[in-house]
Amino acid sequence: MRSRRPAHLLDDAYIAKYQKAYQLLRALPDSDGRSWKNQANLHCAYCNAAFYFPMAKSRLEIHYGWFFFPWHRFFLYFHERILAQLVGDDTFAIPFWNWDDQSANPPLANVLPDVFANAMYKNKSSSLYDANRNACAQPPNIIDLQNLFQCENQTPSLKASLRESNNRIMYTQMVIGAPISRLFFGEPYKLGGWAGPGGGTVEASPHVPVHTWTGNPKAKIATSDMGNSQFSAFDPIFHAHHSNIDRLWEVWKALAKGNHQDITDPDYLNTEFLFYDENGNLVKVKISQALNINTLRYKYEDVANLWVHDGS
Ligand code: C2O
Repeated sequence: MRSRRPAHLLDDAYIAKYQKAYQLLRALPDSDGRSWKNQANLHCAYCNAAFYFPMAKSRLEIHYGWFFFPWHRFFLYFHERILAQLVGDDTFAIPFWNWDDQSANPPLANVLPDVFANAMYKNKSSSLYDANRNACAQPPNIIDLQNLFQCENQTPSLKASLRESNNRIMYTQMVIGAPISRLFFGEPYKLGGWAGPGGGTVEASPHVPVHTWTGNPKAKIATSDMGNSQFSAFDPIFHAHHSNIDRLWEVWKALAKGNHQDITDPDYLNTEFLFYDENGNLVKVKISQALNINTLRYKYEDVANLWVHDGS
């Protein structure tokens, strides 16, 4: 069983292992399906409607529709197994960037986690470093879950209002705006259908704003890496971001048992994707295999989910 923990609470031993895992991943040759570049490119083999299916006369898109949650769950699942294998520790788990937690008590969850912050890297040699991050997104600035670019000069009063609006957006997207599956997961996307028929609440926001807030607005390709889906998986913070998104799927299901259900449409459940496993073999998986994280043998450490109380 792998236990994913909050990225702002990692201990030194964990951080060393985390860095080592990405160092080993980056060292793999690109003839290996598990390599850093192949892993990152795999994300966009399925994005921006890059892949055309002649048979279906349509393009494949894992964003803006009901594939979003399960595809990214699998992507992390295999990525995590690859990292675990490389460091020789079966219990190794990808931490989650707990940006939805607006507590003002340090260590803060709603800033770029220390392991990714520039202050950590005097020589920029860490395997978790990415040159294409927003200079404005460095601590002590706190995240803006709507990314209205309130990044510069974060005064105490701006921070207080950001915390409030961050809590509000979490409550809106997880509770008020997503009382039923279709609203939370996004629109059905079936063979021959339009690529990216419409995303669920959390996918639209805060998922996208966290990407654009983290990416470098001054990069050659603006908002790269994180803010551009073609390159986003080239920043190791991508996986910590998506670990939190994946956690929110579990939180949503637990919020209103009975109403908050996984999708049961057979077209959804039988959809298959290909990934590289920890031995570098291509494997085929079905969405029906993604729905139970106990079966996938990982879990999330409990955190407070403070925004749950925002509506009371
Ligand atoms: Cu495939 Cu956060 O995107």
